[in-house]
Amino acid sequence: MALILAIESSCDETAVAIIKDGQLLSNIVSTQIEVHRKYGGVMPEIASRLHAENISVVLKEALETANVKLEDIDAFAVTRGPGLIGALHVGLQAAKTLALLYKKPLIPVHHLAGHVYANEYIAPLHFPLLAVVVSGGNTELVLMKDHLQFEIIGETRDDAIGESYDKVARVLGLPYPGGIPIDKLAKEGDHTYNISTPLKGEKTYDFSYSGLKTQVINLVHNLEQRGEQVNVPDMCRSFQDVAVGLVIDRAKRAALEYNVKEVICAGGVSANSYLRSEMKRVMDEIGVEILIPPMWCCTDNAAMIAKVAEHLYERKMFAPLSLGVDPNWRIEDYDKFMN
Ligand code: KG4
Repeated sequence: MALILAIESSCDETAVAIIKDGQLLSNIVSTQIEVHRKYGGVMPEIASRLHAENISVVLKEALETANVKLEDIDAFAVTRGPGLIGALHVGLQAAKTLALLYKKPLIPVHHLAGHVYANEYIAPLHFPLLAVVVSGGNTELVLMKDHLQFEIIGETRDDAIGESYDKVARVLGLPYPGGIPIDKLAKEGDHTYNISTPLKGEKTYDFSYSGLKTQVINLVHNLEQRGEQVNVPDMCRSFQDVAVGLVIDRAKRAALEYNVKEVICAGGVSANSYLRSEMKRVMDEIGVEILIPPMWCCTDNAAMIAKVAEHLYERKMFAPLSLGVDPNWRIEDYDKFMN
């Protein structure tokens, strides 16, 4: 097998990992979260600038931790999309420069495939499986009949679930990223606010979070206009029940319809404690295996990119150095990068 260096810079984490024969030699993540917190969300321009400042430091640390030299690396992998265009550019330019300099292959990796494959650090994947991808930028159900076969069977029609957590948190005066405080406060609250379920009654695997977010924002503004106090824990609980309920409903129906062996969770929102416990309870109930990644795999890192890169390296799926980023890359097109 090969020694692969992977770079991730699609949002607000600059990360480099080095992998050999499935074993991680290093996994360095530099997060910008504190900087973006004061703006209540990720500022794309600042994210790109910080990636440019941090990438060489993170790269150096990853090489030192793994105790390897750049000339020993067999291939350079990088997140090509989806993500913030400027942020993606920094990682891709770094990987292309290294590939050119050391005359080694360039491996473009789909960010969400990375989130899915993060689970391989915990256990081998059992196909057919259903991947429940819930993050700050995406919400989708992906059916996988084998390695690297991705079929989207449902996706959000508007906002991602993580985005709705972040916006709801902002209107409630809670810090970014909003998923964490909402998760915590929801445990102290009751479901007292009347929030309707999006796409109710539709036999779809799609999601919709824009209307849900707007319902909460309007509810909060109406209460404030009437001079009434918002019960923040109750609002968090009411919102979370509906937001996560939608994911559980889709996952359960799809697991049964597609007769999958396993359901795996992926992405930042799979850190949510209610989603984790409900997913486990429901899948146990219908007798489907469930794989819930530990917290370190849920957030962005380059170890997950390295994992996918190993599969692509085996299949010699390399890209020319003329490659560009694709901020809207669909997981089904993960192998279409020969531009
Ligand atoms: O996967 P991720 O790092 O971002 C993308 O690559 O898109 O996920 C970040 C998202 C944020 O929206 C954040 O609010 C949410 O994950 N998040 C959570 C929790 N922890 C992070 N959402 C719900 N509950 C949590 N415990």
